Parts: sequence; C-alpha cells; structure tokens
Amino acid sequence: MSQKPPSVIAIYPGSFDPITNGHLDLIQRGARMFDKLIVSILQNDTKKPLFSVKERKAMLAEVVHVYPNVAVDSFNGLLVDHAAAREATVLLRGIRAISDYEYELQMALMNRRLRPDIETVFMMANEAYSFISSRLVKEVYGLGGNISGLVPPSVEARMHRRLSKTKHKGA
Ligand code: PNS
Repeated sequence: MSQKPPSVIAIYPGSFDPITNGHLDLIQRGARMFDKLIVSILQNDTKKPLFSVKERKAMLAEVVHVYPNVAVDSFNGLLVDHAAAREATVLLRGIRAISDYEYELQMALMNRRLRPDIETVFMMANEAYSFISSRLVKEVYGLGGNISGLVPPSVEARMHRRLSKTKHKGA
C-alpha cells in the first residue's frame, strides 16, 4: 500500500502594509501549490507602518477567506523559528525585478544557514503587477493618485477611510 505524501505547509511572510494585488496574485498561486499557506505579518518591524498589525490581519483575512487552505498569522523574531513552530517547510517569496533578487538571495541564504530544513521558494511576480509595491501604493494614494486595480477594493476603501481621518485630524 502506497503511503500518502506528507502535506506541505508554506509561510508567505511580509509587511503587507497594505496587501497589494501583487501579493494577492502570489497567494492565489501559492494556495494551488501548497497544502496549506500561512500569510504571516512581521510584528516587530522597524518601518513605521500605515496600518497596525491588527488592521493588516483584518485586511488580509477579508481577501483570503475565499481560499480554504490559506490562513493569516503574525510573528515576532526570526522567520525560520516561526515557520518551524507552524511546521512549515517552505518560505514563499515573490520576485518582481532583478532589483529584488539581491535582498531576497541574502535572506534566503541566511534563513537556510539558520535552518537548512526550511526551503525558500521564489515565484516570479505576474508581469501585470511587477511594478506594484506597498510603499508606492501609499505614496501615490497620499498624493491624490488613483490606486484602483493596484490593491483589492476592500483595501482601497480602508485607505480612503484612513486618509480622510488623517485629513480631518489635520484640519
Ligand atoms: O514585506 P517585506 O518587508 O519585504 O518582508 C520582509 C520579511 C518580513 C520577510 C523579513 O524582514 C523577515 O523575515 N523578518 C524577520 C526577521 C528575520 O528572520 N530575520 C533574518 C532573516 S534574513
């Protein structure tokens, strides 16, 4: 009798401040590849975020609930320790352009040194989204630009609420 292969759990880590359509595309494709995909937000980030971890978790949950094998989580400390605690053997990362490669390679090699049993898997970003980053989305939106099609509609609505709140505070 043949044995069932072990299920593969992958972690897709990041800041997700906020989640973009590029992230969502990777989540969709990752959900097809792995038995379980955990989208995990780094908590102790040195960058000053626009959205709190709680808000980012809610934003992610709103868009990933359609994928039954995708969960949302957050972590502190080393990513590989978080992965091990969740019994994940894969770290999923997206590469948009050559400029991403150096940083991603460094992280992948460091993570492999820390825990050789955890493999980093890279996926090429969909060309339609390869120019999108959370940082640019925030900048464009903050300066009054149109971000529709760059982030999920629910995220766009939250950004709109956040900006009008900030404007009222400043007025
Ligand atoms: O969305 P980002 O900002 O590119 O994600 C970066 C992230 C969260 C993947 C990276 O900063 C990370 O893994 N941080 C956790 C700390 C850690 O494990 N550092 C050593 C690995 S190189």
